[in-house]
Amino acid sequence: MAKKIKKEIKTFNLPEDVVLSIQDLRVWFELKKFGFGHAGYVKAVDGVTFDLHKQEAIAIVGESGCGKTTLMKTILGLYVPVEGYIVYHNEDINEYDKSQQRWFHSQIGYVQQDPFGAIAPFMTLRKILEEPLVCNGIKDKEEIDRRIRKVMEEVSLTPADDFINKYPHMLSGGQQQRIVIARAMILQQKVIVADEPVSMLDASVRVEVLKLLEGLKETHGLSVIYITHDLSTVRYFSERIFVMYAGRMVEKAKVNDIIYNHKHPYTDALLLATSEPDAENAKIYKEIPEGEPPSLVHPPKGCRYHVRCPKMIDGLCNVENPPEFEVEPEHYVSCWLYKDDNKN
Ligand SMILES: Nc1ncnc2c1ncn2[C@@H]1O[C@H](COP(=O)(O)OP(=O)(O)OP(=O)(O)O)[C@@H](O)[C@H]1O
Ligand code: SF4
Ligand SMILES: [Mg+2]
Repeated sequence: MAKKIKKEIKTFNLPEDVVLSIQDLRVWFELKKFGFGHAGYVKAVDGVTFDLHKQEAIAIVGESGCGKTTLMKTILGLYVPVEGYIVYHNEDINEYDKSQQRWFHSQIGYVQQDPFGAIAPFMTLRKILEEPLVCNGIKDKEEIDRRIRKVMEEVSLTPADDFINKYPHMLSGGQQQRIVIARAMILQQKVIVADEPVSMLDASVRVEVLKLLEGLKETHGLSVIYITHDLSTVRYFSERIFVMYAGRMVEKAKVNDIIYNHKHPYTDALLLATSEPDAENAKIYKEIPEGEPPSLVHPPKGCRYHVRCPKMIDGLCNVENPPEFEVEPEHYVSCWLYKDDNKN
């Protein structure tokens, strides 16, 4: 039998402090006419670039349908990008074979929006937490039991004996989300992707769960990507905020620079529409911002925000897509208003 030749994996030379690098990522879903004929693509992620640093939390915000979940699922290896790179340990993970993919999955934990939907209802907590260990080759029963109890303690489901043989429906929403978090870190993952982790929980437990995530990030030196609609919760543990609009990042900066010194007209509208950065008001979610998000099948030419933007420059914004300008150190804006402020 001919020897299978291993595919060469593209390698990179990232700075030491970068744990994950997303480079010009594009994820398009094909639309079918009558179930088979090609009818175009939903360009859900269309040219996204950012670095996630070691022990850093970033928040990705943007209105419904802008591509946040698609971006995360692609990072988790659930969708294959049409273009671009996801770089981990200086390698493009899209070129990994099955066993390399399994290893990569063991490095990244996923916390979904709906905890009940994320865990098998017919499994006890012990089984739920045992599964990733067994799938990753840990067979020793004592070791498995020790690690399950340790992680349950870390997410404050204690005493473990009170919970370990329960089924998910016997827990509150907050406790279910703690189990999802426990599962996302039981393999000592380096990165946690949390997609709207508290939006389905009661306001009273949201802060608790966010504080738990923040504590785990600090004690385990995790890097976190936190996706949310709700800017009021971002400050709990994020260092930077990335604002996403129609498949692209339009502004990236440190949290306070986004909240107090934002530049992009869309960020402006998003912040105006968001409730006070106060957890008590987190439920008062208003539809954001005025106007409809554009079609991702036929996105507007030029800047994708131009049809809603009060500052649109005719002949420029509706013709050419703005590149990313660094307007202040580590503050990036994709908007033609800042072309003369570029520090590059
Ligand atoms: N599997 C899929 N097939 C086809 N289109 C998809 C698929 N998944 C997402 N989309 C489309 O891609 C776009 C982005 O969806 P996505 O779920 O990533 O947005 P989102 O920002 O997470 O929204 P929300 O805030 O509502 O969760 C939407 O237009 C959505 O309909
Ligand atoms: S590039 Fe033009 S249309 Fe787009 S946000 Fe800036 S001013 Fe508005
Ligand atoms: Mg989503």
